[in-house]
Amino acid sequence: MSAIRKCLFPAAGYGTRFLPVTKAMPKEMLPVVNKPLIQYGVEEAARAGISDMAFVTGRGKRALEDHFDISYELEREIAGSEREALLGEIRRLIRECRFSWTRQLAVQGLGHAILTGETLIGNEPFAVLLADDFCVTEDAGVIAQLAAVFAEQQCSIVAVEEVAVSESASYGMIAGEEISPGLFRVGQMVEKPAPEEVPGNLAIIGRYILTPDIFDILRATEPGHNNELQLTDALRIQARQGRVLALQFRGCRFDCGSVAGYMAANEYVHERS
Ligand code: G1P
Repeated sequence: MSAIRKCLFPAAGYGTRFLPVTKAMPKEMLPVVNKPLIQYGVEEAARAGISDMAFVTGRGKRALEDHFDISYELEREIAGSEREALLGEIRRLIRECRFSWTRQLAVQGLGHAILTGETLIGNEPFAVLLADDFCVTEDAGVIAQLAAVFAEQQCSIVAVEEVAVSESASYGMIAGEEISPGLFRVGQMVEKPAPEEVPGNLAIIGRYILTPDIFDILRATEPGHNNELQLTDALRIQARQGRVLALQFRGCRFDCGSVAGYMAANEYVHERS
């Protein structure tokens, strides 16, 4: 198998916890200071050497496509002014990456979003990044950490972090055997278990590398938690064959799907900028 070339960004969710701001604006466009969450995500994928950015969006998400396109009027307006520098990073992404888009007609779970993205990914291993898990690392980023493990192990990998067992109902939770420091061969995984049913205290965060057989597995997977097609349930099939690793990533994460986590991320980045 080759290196990871493509990253899938599921971005069809409604962001109901942020209403009313997410009524007409995609939650992925919420800024951390002055940059939208989705741009941090694309930058992280690009730093991992990924060139193809594939998005699964839905109705009301057009601002995402516009963000990764040239705005001629704005370019003309800003040319030569001191504000031009603010566009440097996004211009570079537009120049150096390829962007593709497809729509999920109904929001039916992360597994369904991944399956919708198959048309953009094809038959090769790929990364998945959930932009509302905002991650800060001292190196190239969480996707780069996962890609380094993939280069050696050639199997699906999920990023995990320790959480309080009382929070288990918000995450896919895993347990496994530690095969090297911070790297686990996943034995059990369950989507959003009640605290009394957790297999361990490691929670999946929104960074994955998946092998493409996940698509056929997803097609054969029944709806699970919340009557939605869950990626965790499909990964459990690969895990039974010993083909899923979990990496305790090095860095910190803010849950920007919650108002408290989002505020904390803004404070963190603002203090350091
Ligand atoms: C999804 C996954 C879950 C994972 C979480 C990470 O849930 O289904 O396994 O722990 O992302 O953020 P969501 O937060 O989209 O409900």
